[in-house]
Amino acid sequence: MSDAERTFVMVKPDGVQRGLIGEIISRFEERGLKLVGAKFTQISEELAHEHYGEHEGKPFFDGLVEFITAGPVMAMVWEGQDATRQVRTMMGATDPAESAPGTIRGDFGLDLGRNVIHGSDHADEGANVREIDLFFDEDELQDYERIDETWLY
Ligand code: TYD
Ligand code: MG
Repeated sequence: MSDAERTFVMVKPDGVQRGLIGEIISRFEERGLKLVGAKFTQISEELAHEHYGEHEGKPFFDGLVEFITAGPVMAMVWEGQDATRQVRTMMGATDPAESAPGTIRGDFGLDLGRNVIHGSDHADEGANVREIDLFFDEDELQDYERIDETWLY
């Protein structure tokens, strides 16, 4: 594998409530990405502010914090070649109304404020590492080989 990378992914409260955790995990698993960490958790107001710090002061910020803290989320770390970019491509555009069918947001969302999934921004260098650190301790991430890796790479 030339550029194995870890990226932070989260099924948002709407995705959890709508029963989409399994479907979303399946897509990444079948693509060949490897699950190395998972945590079903409730985001505190403080963590929400840290995680979405780049958006503080924007008109949608308060609503975003309220939404992301409204119920449990499924926080995960996925590993694979070019993982951050590939996850973003599979997620679709930020606004589900602009997302192509076949993407997660394009298949399961309709509204910008309820877009089912978060993934580290590929354009923001180091966002994946920052977000993983925010949600996971090092000993909560697993190092292992998936049996199909020889045939993926
Ligand atoms: P952003 O980081 O721009 O999008 P992405 O999740 O694709 O990285 O924005 C974070 C979240 O904020 C986004 O998933 C949905 C919400 N949001 C709004 O509610 N209104 C907006 O105008 C924008 C840009 C984002
Ligand atoms: Mg973002």
